[in-house]
Amino acid sequence: MLALHKSDHMQLPFLWAHRGASRNAPENTLAAFLAAAECGADGLELDIHLSYDGIPVVIHDETLDRTTDGTGPVAHLDLQMLLQLDAGSWFAPEYVGEGIPTLESVLSVFAGNLRLNREIKEFRAGMAMLELLGRCPSADVVVSSFNYDLLRSLREKDGNLALAVLFESGNWRQAIHLAMELSACAFHPRADKVNRPMLTACQRVELPVFVWTVDDPRLAMSFVRSGVSGFFTNDPEALRAVFPRAGGQ
Ligand code: G3P
Ligand code: CA
Repeated sequence: MLALHKSDHMQLPFLWAHRGASRNAPENTLAAFLAAAECGADGLELDIHLSYDGIPVVIHDETLDRTTDGTGPVAHLDLQMLLQLDAGSWFAPEYVGEGIPTLESVLSVFAGNLRLNREIKEFRAGMAMLELLGRCPSADVVVSSFNYDLLRSLREKDGNLALAVLFESGNWRQAIHLAMELSACAFHPRADKVNRPMLTACQRVELPVFVWTVDDPRLAMSFVRSGVSGFFTNDPEALRAVFPRAGGQ
């Protein structure tokens, strides 16, 4: 079986459950986050949008159509309406009734237990998230974004917030430079954009690299051998089997 052996002398990679354990449960729901915790993920990745009345809710798309029984933009419904939607039945019948979580509800369950990577795609959601974080000091949070202006604004507002730079296209050298400028804690490149010079550049400035999205254990193993610090994975159970913690999960 493919597994990391003690003689490999490698750090165990950090496993972020991408939208929760989204291979086995509906993405960005409490069910997916609980499943991720149960199978030994180190952290949860989740996506934030704002309701019409400005409450941060956990859902990937700007619109409701793909992952709920609602339609149209998330931002067109207030929180009470969003909470009535079903975000589980599209995935499998046993998840009927699973709702869209608020960011606050995820924090109340997981703050203090697992690291949370909140991906923020737009400015207002970033500011609302900052306000909520101020009320939850026990939360261990990394905020990541493809929106580099938003990352700059967050850094201006909070000099201590853990920020990560997401990268999927364009000039990776500039993205690493931005990570340094922001004193970011990590660089998050898309798996098919990773290359040897990129990893060398990150190692030179001691910038940890977490690659998304990696579900294939063999690919994960080869990334670890190249020095990456961890992954975002839809299947934390499969990767935990390859990278077992001492004494079990
Ligand atoms: O954090 C990496 C990843 O989540 C970014 O892409 O589309 O899954 O939000 P996406
Ligand atoms: Ca995401």
